[in-house]
Amino acid sequence: MKKLQLLGNITPAQFLRDYWHKKPLLIRNAIPGFKPLLKLDKLAEAAAKNHVESRLVTSVDGQWDMQHGPLTELPPRTQREWTLLVQGVNLFDERADALLREFRFLPDARLDDLMVSYATDGGGVGPHFDSYDVFLLQAHGKRRWKISAQQDLSLVEGMPLKILSNFTPDEEFVLEPGDMLYLPPHYAHDGVAEGECMTYSIGFRSPSFQEIGEAFLQFMADSIDLPGRYADPDLQPAKNPAEIPREMLGAITEELNKVRWDEEDVTVFFGEYMSEPKHNVFFTPPAKPLVVGRFMETAAKRGLKLSPKTLMLYRGKHVFINGESFAVSRADKIVLDLLANERRLSGEALARASDDVLEALYTWYQDGWVELG
Ligand code: SIN
Ligand code: CO
Repeated sequence: MKKLQLLGNITPAQFLRDYWHKKPLLIRNAIPGFKPLLKLDKLAEAAAKNHVESRLVTSVDGQWDMQHGPLTELPPRTQREWTLLVQGVNLFDERADALLREFRFLPDARLDDLMVSYATDGGGVGPHFDSYDVFLLQAHGKRRWKISAQQDLSLVEGMPLKILSNFTPDEEFVLEPGDMLYLPPHYAHDGVAEGECMTYSIGFRSPSFQEIGEAFLQFMADSIDLPGRYADPDLQPAKNPAEIPREMLGAITEELNKVRWDEEDVTVFFGEYMSEPKHNVFFTPPAKPLVVGRFMETAAKRGLKLSPKTLMLYRGKHVFINGESFAVSRADKIVLDLLANERRLSGEALARASDDVLEALYTWYQDGWVELG
């Protein structure tokens, strides 16, 4: 793989080997000439919406306050020390989506979203740590980052957001537009706006094992098959009627031990789970959907692309899209893997698609999962 300016002229392999999960990396001029993708009014408009996750953070004399969206009113721009954070900007802004996809040297199953923060002078969310890796791209204005390798991650109690009780920075940098800072999980940091500024966070997903386990058992509940019912033809008279008979528990344990899963079950579960859109994601079907014939003609000319909201993954013969899974033939797999990786299909690629694939694509188009190119 080639060296990326985005990573400070090292290859993704070097980045993953030396920094990922290991140590911070400051990249000056990661994106030369970077211009912010959206202005405060657009961000504020998004923050006012129900289905957009947003927060407003203020601090007055060391007392932090956090308000969750929808946010219909923001403090004036002339007021110091407030921060507006908007999650999932990639879901409604095509250019933010394209920026997030610059990070596809990492698998889609790990990429989460692009969060945009706007702060007035002195604004920030306080010294804290995150449980995930993050790339902090300075989009507009300046922000002073202080970071620390400290092990003490104790938090101030009773705060509406995570604030480290003993933050002792060991490095400090001022980031300007186009500069980027990578931080591994649990790395203490504090970013303070110097004048008005905007910072974009490229965030990652790493589900907890507990969350995965619970979801997996729910998935298995739909697929287990345990015929029959408990019976005890050799039952003996009960001495202590309230005591569960040992033989009864033995028989139940034996039966439950028949619940088994293999790699295939785990693959289908995990693919469906990781491609499931977040609860606040709603697809917008086309206002005037083309009839199937017109759709095919137009798609042959213009190609198709996935909606920025669509999560599409695959593994082996299984293809996952927005929480649904399909086992597909070898020929269909070529086309669908291409769509998943490129997030678009050219007219030529479509010409090679089977009727099954075309039918699925038309349904996805009607649902707003796929759009005309
Ligand atoms: C911010 O953009 O204000 C905060 C990002 C972070 O510290 O994780
Ligand atoms: Co953070």
